[in-house]
Amino acid sequence: MHDVSRFYLTTPIYYVNAEPHLGHAYTTIVGDALARWHRLLGDDVRYLTGTDEHGLKIQQAAEAAGVSPQEFTDDIAPKFAAAWDRLNISNDDFIRTTEPRHKAAVEELLQRCYDAGDIELDTFAGKYCVACEEYYTDDELITIDGPDGPRADCCPIHLRPVEYFEEENYFFRLSRFEDRLLDWYAAHPDALKPEHRGNEAIGLIKSGLRDFSISRTSLEWGIPLPWDSKHVTYVWFDALTNYLAAVGFGDGTDSYRDWWPVDHHLIGKDIIRQHCVYWPAMLMSAGVDLPKGWAIGGWLLSGGEKMSKTSGNVVDPLDLVDDVGLDGFRYYVLADTAYGNDGDFSIDGFTSRYNSDLANNLGNLLSRVATVVAKKCNAIGTAPNPDSPLAAVAATSYADAAAQWDVVQPSKALEATWQLVRATNAHLEVNEPWKAEPGPGVDAVMGDALEALRIVAVLSHPAIPDTAQAIWERIGLPGQVSDQRLPDAASWGQYIPGAAVTKGDALFPRLP
Ligand code: MSP
Repeated sequence: MHDVSRFYLTTPIYYVNAEPHLGHAYTTIVGDALARWHRLLGDDVRYLTGTDEHGLKIQQAAEAAGVSPQEFTDDIAPKFAAAWDRLNISNDDFIRTTEPRHKAAVEELLQRCYDAGDIELDTFAGKYCVACEEYYTDDELITIDGPDGPRADCCPIHLRPVEYFEEENYFFRLSRFEDRLLDWYAAHPDALKPEHRGNEAIGLIKSGLRDFSISRTSLEWGIPLPWDSKHVTYVWFDALTNYLAAVGFGDGTDSYRDWWPVDHHLIGKDIIRQHCVYWPAMLMSAGVDLPKGWAIGGWLLSGGEKMSKTSGNVVDPLDLVDDVGLDGFRYYVLADTAYGNDGDFSIDGFTSRYNSDLANNLGNLLSRVATVVAKKCNAIGTAPNPDSPLAAVAATSYADAAAQWDVVQPSKALEATWQLVRATNAHLEVNEPWKAEPGPGVDAVMGDALEALRIVAVLSHPAIPDTAQAIWERIGLPGQVSDQRLPDAASWGQYIPGAAVTKGDALFPRLP
């Protein structure tokens, strides 16, 4: 049995130097599905997303646009919020790092780490990638051919030359935390998911930890250090703290503990170091509990490359939704890639998954059921058979889906759910109710199919909420699918016979 509890889930906060794209939408949709699943379990869910608005990258983008950084971020942050509305993201909060609550939390965390003796002043010279907001050592840099010949000083992620910086910085003494971090992860072997991504994090720690710079004097756009206002907080120390700020850390009370520690930080594989190495060390230093979990996703590639503003291969998720429909898009994003692996986005890949899983399987199932019930049962839903062979399939589908949502594997959870869709189509094909005379035989087969659709509506709600509700209504059930509670709602035999079944337009018209 699942313990009903508070469930706090976060996405990375997105840089506002670019408009929302498919790469951002990917993690946000995974988080949304997970949040909805936990609401179905009866958990008190808090799903947080937001925008990362400080730092050199934003300052430069604002300069290039000829506006102040505040004006610049005030323009872009609402575009993220609007994109998430359009994608039916059920976030409970949206944090901007320019908000007072965030500033209070950053000051509190900085002060605690400083008081613990883990932040110290030092001089730093190094090569910095502004796009990553990260320093690199010479052996981490790579050679790229440029217009003036090969350059050996390029960032391995953004493939462009780094910049040389020299300044007096405050440093967080990360090197002191190597053993403590390894011990903590050894004691919490399930904290990092999936395992292969978790191993990358452990590998980073084992390869040795360098102190990292947490402040700049050359930067204006950020939060000043509470004890030395010539320095502005380095972007990662600032950004990571959003997760605490959103639950009230720094408000002078301990209320953040109602939600903290967070259940899962959803992150991309490119920000493992900051989230799984820097962040837990910062929390240890500050005397704050460590997260319960991190769920690390791969990249959504387009033609084999990470989709990003810098690569110029950005797909606007909203354009896509206009073309292919919201739930088709959400389903594809969730079902096509095992979370943790890279996915390759293509229109052909989208079309084939949409046609097979949505048009031919789920959509076809609903349309067949509604047609036969209209013709043979006077459009009135019939009772499921308590001993239906589909009852066992439904139980397995639920159990497998629950286990997969639990380990943040939406694609596998949906695969488990679609086992029931496929088994129900097969049940109809074996029994051929469309050929039989009306009567108890047809009624029993259709009752089973309606009951299976009821359970499919509940189990698929996290991925395709509008469609799940449409199925619910077409099979004549009252209320909202989102108000159903698992595991009860997945148990066989709850379809209400006598409900009016309606046949509407195709849920997912086949794509050419
Ligand atoms: N602002 C930082 C995160 C701070 S969290 C305290 C940041 N922002 S970002 O906008 O560049 O990226 C945010 C997340 O989006 C990262 O996890 C990154 O992996 C993810 N994605 C950006 N492009 C992506 C793809 N093409 N595919 C999948 N996710 C990608 O990093």
